[in-house]
Amino acid sequence: MLDPIVPYAPGKSLEALAAELGDVDLVRLSANENPLGPSPRVVAAIAREAARVHLYPDGGSTALREALARHLAVVPEQVIVGNGADELIGLIALAAFEPGDEVVVPHPSFEPYTTCVALAGAAPVASPLAKYETDLEDMRRRVSARTKAVIVCSPHNPAATIVRTKPLLAFLDALGADPPLVVLDEAYGDFCDDPEYPDGLALLRRHPRLILLRTFSKIAGLAGLRVGYAIASGETIDRLNRVRAPYNVNRLGQVAALAALEDGEHRRRTRQLVIEERAFLSAGLARRGLAHPPSQANFLLVQVPDAAASRERLFRAGILVRDGAGVGFPGHLRVSVGLRATNEKLLALI
Ligand SMILES: Cc1ncc(COP(=O)(O)O)c(C=O)c1O
Repeated sequence: MLDPIVPYAPGKSLEALAAELGDVDLVRLSANENPLGPSPRVVAAIAREAARVHLYPDGGSTALREALARHLAVVPEQVIVGNGADELIGLIALAAFEPGDEVVVPHPSFEPYTTCVALAGAAPVASPLAKYETDLEDMRRRVSARTKAVIVCSPHNPAATIVRTKPLLAFLDALGADPPLVVLDEAYGDFCDDPEYPDGLALLRRHPRLILLRTFSKIAGLAGLRVGYAIASGETIDRLNRVRAPYNVNRLGQVAALAALEDGEHRRRTRQLVIEERAFLSAGLARRGLAHPPSQANFLLVQVPDAAASRERLFRAGILVRDGAGVGFPGHLRVSVGLRATNEKLLALI
């Protein structure tokens, strides 16, 4: 089963790349991180907790789960916290997928979906994007009696496009009375300003087979601590808890996520910065004749004449971006939204 799996290649660490560049300061725009960093309240919470790291964490992330439940107006039994949303994708596969099952996945898309499906011995069924858009009609056509789940990523990584409320509702309704699980990965949902971006929680009330995936990595800037969560029916969360490791979320991650949840102002600042700078980058790229699908995320997928050479030129100047070839879009760069000075530098160089 492991033979076809290619180990995830995260690339060199930020520190190793910075050392390679020598004197030039390196800014990473390849991992869709928060350009503002974490909230100062998060940093203070981690400092307060640091002397207690000899103690195992709360295995159920109880305080964080309860705070999330209050914040989202659901019950705590509908929430599970994971070591990043990444872990939750793996737990869904472990809990629900078996050999013989099929899982419909957009293609290309966030790579761990396919890996986790394959690791569970199930078969990923690729639904090609319609250029840059998730093709819900195609996904629906690929659902068969063997389909255990459908994974939808909105905003999509790496295309940055969303599925809209009306087509998503029609898609969910069309799955019928005994639908497969539908995983809706909303890792970048906090950056959406399109009024047609769906309200996942409202969808969940109507479609109890839905699993919403969210993360503190992006909007809250906690990527290095690994905290994500899923919201679903109590029954689905109960299944996921059966395959969860006892202490899956560490002590610093739990207190940091709680502090982040309490700092609405930092989330608003991050969201506003991303929305403003996304528009700034988008307009600058358009002026340079560089096409990109409209982004609802904190990154843009930009079509460029020679992606490898462009990436290298930007890197030598201190800006690391992702070559689209590594995420299913050769001839493109995936560029995270940075601070204004970085974005200006990027536009001057690209
Ligand atoms: C679409 C998508 N889902 C999930 C994740 C995982 O997020 P986390 O950092 O919480 O594991 C990412 C991370 O980049 C992502 O792009």
